[in-house]
Amino acid sequence: MILSLEHIYKDYVQDKLVVPVLKDINLSVEEGEYVAIMGPSGSGKTTLMNIIGCLDHPTSGEYILDGKSVLGLRDNALSDVRLNSIGFVFQTFQLMPRESALENVCLPLSYAGVKKSEKKERAMKALERVGLKERALFKPTQLSGGQKQRVAIARAMINNPKILLADEPTGALDQKSGEQIMRLFKKLNEEGVTIIMITHDPKIAQNAKKIYYIIDGVISEDEEKARSTAEALEKEEAMEDDFLIENEKSDNEKQEVASDENS
Ligand SMILES: Nc1ncnc2c1ncn2[C@@H]1O[C@H](COP(=O)(O)OP(=O)(O)O)[C@@H](O)[C@H]1O
Ligand SMILES: [Mg+2]
Repeated sequence: MILSLEHIYKDYVQDKLVVPVLKDINLSVEEGEYVAIMGPSGSGKTTLMNIIGCLDHPTSGEYILDGKSVLGLRDNALSDVRLNSIGFVFQTFQLMPRESALENVCLPLSYAGVKKSEKKERAMKALERVGLKERALFKPTQLSGGQKQRVAIARAMINNPKILLADEPTGALDQKSGEQIMRLFKKLNEEGVTIIMITHDPKIAQNAKKIYYIIDGVISEDEEKARSTAEALEKEEAMEDDFLIENEKSDNEKQEVASDENS
C-alpha cells in the first residue's frame, strides 16, 4: 500500500461556524494503482487532494504515506515529502509565465540542489517523455493548453515521484488535448507511477482503473452509498443545528425571565 487515509475529517471555520467538509474519509491506494475521485463541485475534492498532497492538514484522522505517518511531520519534512514522493498537476497548469518550458520543468530540481548541467539534461529528458523536446525554449504564452499541461506533467515527474496527483487535469482543455493528457497518464501508469486523479467528468474518470465518488465530503466506491450516507449526515447536522438553536432560544428566554425578575 502506498498511502492510506483513516477516518480523515476536515472542518473549515467560517464566521465562527464550523463547516464540515470531509467526513470520515477512508481511502487506501496500492502502489501502481490508477484511481479517479469523482464528485460534483464543492464536494471536497480539492480539499482531499490538498491533504493527500501534504499541502494541508486534516482536522483529525491518520494519514500513512509510504509506510510513515505524515501528520506529525514538521513543515520542512513535509516539503521534502512533497518534493520527492509526489508530483502535482493542476487544472490551470501553474507554470511560471516568464520562464521557458525547460526552466519550468527544472524548477523542482533547484530545491533539490542539482548541478545546472544535470538539471538541463534531466529536464530535456522529461520534456522528451511528454513529447515536447522541440518546444523546450518556448514560453507558456507560446504553447497551447494541452502543451502547457504536458510541461506541467514533465515538471511533476522530474524527481521520479511514485505518486502523481492531478486535480481536474483536463478541466481547462478541449476534448482532443484532454484525451492526449489521458494517454500520457496511461503511459506513466504503465511505467509504474501511482496516479490519483480528481475530476468531475465521468468520461475522464473512465480512464482510471478504479473510481471513487465523493459527495458532500463522503467517499465511497459505490456512488449511491456515498449519496445516501451524505444525506443521512446532512439530516443529523440539521437536527443538531435545530437543537442548538432551540437551546439558544430557551437560554435567551431564561435570561429574559432572569432580567425581568431583577428589574
Ligand atoms: N479555505 C477554505 N475556507 C473555508 N471553506 C472552504 C475552504 N476551502 C474550501 N472550502 C469549502 O469546502 C467545500 C469543498 O471545497 P473544495 O474541496 O474546493 O471542493 P471541490 O474541489 O470538490 O469543488 C466547499 O463548500 C468550499 O466552499
Ligand atoms: Mg476543486
